[in-house]
Amino acid sequence: MKEKTVFASRRARVLPLLNEFTDANETRADAFLSTALPNVRYLTGFTGSNGAVLITPLRAILFTDPRYTTQSAQEADCDIRIAKGPLAKKVASVANRLRLKSVAVELNRLSFQDHQQLAKLLTGVQLKPVTGLVETLRMVKSSDEIATIRASVNLNSVALEQAMTRFKPGMTEIDLAAEIDYRMRLLGADGTAFDTIVASGRRSALPHAHPTAHPIEVDELLLIDMGATLAGYASDMTRTYVVGKAGTKIRRMYKAVLDSQLTALALLKPGMTCAKLDRAVRDVLRGYGLDKLFMHSTGHGLGLEIHERPRIGRKEAVKFEAGMTVTIEPGVYEEGTGGVRIEDTVVVTERGCEVLTPTKKDLVVL
Ligand code: GLY
Ligand code: MN
Repeated sequence: MKEKTVFASRRARVLPLLNEFTDANETRADAFLSTALPNVRYLTGFTGSNGAVLITPLRAILFTDPRYTTQSAQEADCDIRIAKGPLAKKVASVANRLRLKSVAVELNRLSFQDHQQLAKLLTGVQLKPVTGLVETLRMVKSSDEIATIRASVNLNSVALEQAMTRFKPGMTEIDLAAEIDYRMRLLGADGTAFDTIVASGRRSALPHAHPTAHPIEVDELLLIDMGATLAGYASDMTRTYVVGKAGTKIRRMYKAVLDSQLTALALLKPGMTCAKLDRAVRDVLRGYGLDKLFMHSTGHGLGLEIHERPRIGRKEAVKFEAGMTVTIEPGVYEEGTGGVRIEDTVVVTERGCEVLTPTKKDLVVL
């Protein structure tokens, strides 16, 4: 058993927070069940692919299956129950035995099937939906988490640098994406944080393109969006290159996106709402007449998941706080021409933000 861990401190925050996440007409639940793996990892340290954690006022119990008997004992600092069948069944039997009156469950995470099964098996235990409680706790990172994200970001940038030394026109998008993924693994990544995007020419206008057998030709745009996972934590970066010559239109698109990205980095500070920052980015792009070509949000939190709260979008009322790690990734995409996106991972500081991504972002013509 580990010493009183960071996980125990995180769990200690869950039940006191339940009030804020409970509908005003409802009474607070007396226990909390997390079934989302990133939340389970955050609360217990367990990294397996099947798990749930029940937090009661007196204890925390991790549920997993026999494949993880050894691993869960090594990783988790709480009680463990190994379920031979569905976890929901085991959770229900424990909740019944503990005579819990009500259990809060994650409305945004629990599958309909698991909810039905739990509701059927629980006797005298009410299920109460809450949304985003652990996700809210996870928004502000500890210094250890920030150090891990910084390492993940650095690894990601080194992988890009190494992969680009092997780039030559004619290489396919798939070849380059495979090279990037290979470099990440050799550098010690757990894996990629999402499917690497390599999109060239007109295909770069697809914000979430899948790499294809399309050869990356001269006088084409080349958009690369990549992220590593290191010790569970994600990084995220997009760079857009021009292969061969960059025409006036492309240069102007690049200038606009870079201008909007640098503006966001200069403005970002604690206390500002995400919506305000998003608006500032759109205002810069509007100055270039390109705001209509920016159809996604300005960025997103990242950590144990590649997309976490907060979402830096038009309607996000969340205010930045020191310790949040987010991406800043404006882009413009024109069908038939191509797309430009520039994305860094940053950490919010007491006075502003620190850009973690070391890769330069002036227009590079390959
Ligand atoms: N870089 C992938 C994404 O943010 O969706
Ligand atoms: Mn991103």
